[in-house]
Amino acid sequence: MEKILNITDDIYYVGVNDRDTYLFEGIWPLPKGVSYNSYLICDEKNVLIDTVKVSKSGLFIQKIKELINGESLDYLVINHMEPDHSGSIWSILQAFPDIKIVGNKKTFEFLNDLYGIKDNLLEIKEGDELNLGKHTLKFFMIPMVHWPETMVTYELTEKVVFTGDAFGGFGTLDGGIFDDEVEIEYYKNEIRRYYSNIVGKFGPMVQKALQKLSGLDIKIIAPTHGPVWRSNPKIIVDLYDKWSRYEAEEGVVIVYGSMYGNTEKMADYIANVLAKHGIKNIRVMNVSNVHESFIINEIWRFKGVIIGTCTYNNGIFPPVENLLINLSHKGLKNRVFAAFGTYGWSGGGVKGILEYINKNNWKLACEPVEVKFSPDNEDLKKLEEFAARFVKSLKEEL
Ligand code: FEO
Repeated sequence: MEKILNITDDIYYVGVNDRDTYLFEGIWPLPKGVSYNSYLICDEKNVLIDTVKVSKSGLFIQKIKELINGESLDYLVINHMEPDHSGSIWSILQAFPDIKIVGNKKTFEFLNDLYGIKDNLLEIKEGDELNLGKHTLKFFMIPMVHWPETMVTYELTEKVVFTGDAFGGFGTLDGGIFDDEVEIEYYKNEIRRYYSNIVGKFGPMVQKALQKLSGLDIKIIAPTHGPVWRSNPKIIVDLYDKWSRYEAEEGVVIVYGSMYGNTEKMADYIANVLAKHGIKNIRVMNVSNVHESFIINEIWRFKGVIIGTCTYNNGIFPPVENLLINLSHKGLKNRVFAAFGTYGWSGGGVKGILEYINKNNWKLACEPVEVKFSPDNEDLKKLEEFAARFVKSLKEEL
């Protein structure tokens, strides 16, 4: 049993760690696990903010009951309906049958669609307030960060904002829960992987949400995943601002798909030439061995993206194409691209990459290099020129 942890004197952390789930949303690997954060405000009216994944309901209810100590749980505020947070609503209703569920119109549409729950609802709108005694909650809608019903709940007395997925990340909370209690660098990478893969598509909506929250005096940011920000919430707000504007650092991600090592040779050669031109942040990633969520995370960080493929069935190597499809869906912007690859007889791989680059209006830094089977000395010379042009274009865009 975990220790009960305070956020403030009257606000408690009742979230749980999940080290069992292998793929979040059935797609994103969780090598460091994930936490589902939920919070309990104890006042004249006791309020729970969000719940946890259904598989963790038992521990969750146990924690709440221990804190409530026989009193009533009056409200459940739902900031976000995705089942990693709404999955324990039924268990909460069973444990506290008189509870009122607080949400917006869209929340209640999804509550009915997902769980068939229609009763004991308190519908709130943008800017509405709910008084609990010493504490008052105020609600702000942040649609499409990253579902349409998403909202944040701001507690006016202690100036805590409960933000749902926004500002959260992968990684269980191992010990401390606050930014100043953990090694925050360990979490930052997993926060960006969460952002880029799950929220990244909705950059303009995140910008709108940041604008709305900029008017609030915020002391603590309490998301539904990862560390709670109390020492310097500005760090995570600034990172969200940067990521949602698709800003990037100097650096190059070289992603390749290679069946027998020839395209890989080209990737390594390009990386060596980039380094000679002074690029220090270079990530060479084999799309067959690295899950695309880690590649997308690096692409969200760095300005340069060089994609290589062998030719497969007259087209792009399927894992490379899958990455390109995902990058297209995420609406990636403000990057500098290039393509390279190999073919045996027909070609088609590099041509396929160029079609994705054109279709998405991504900036192409230089003409591609495509070689027959394996690069010879002439091809390596072409790669020298290719990498030099790429660095020139990259620096111009930074
Ligand atoms: Fe953490 Fe969108 O659910």
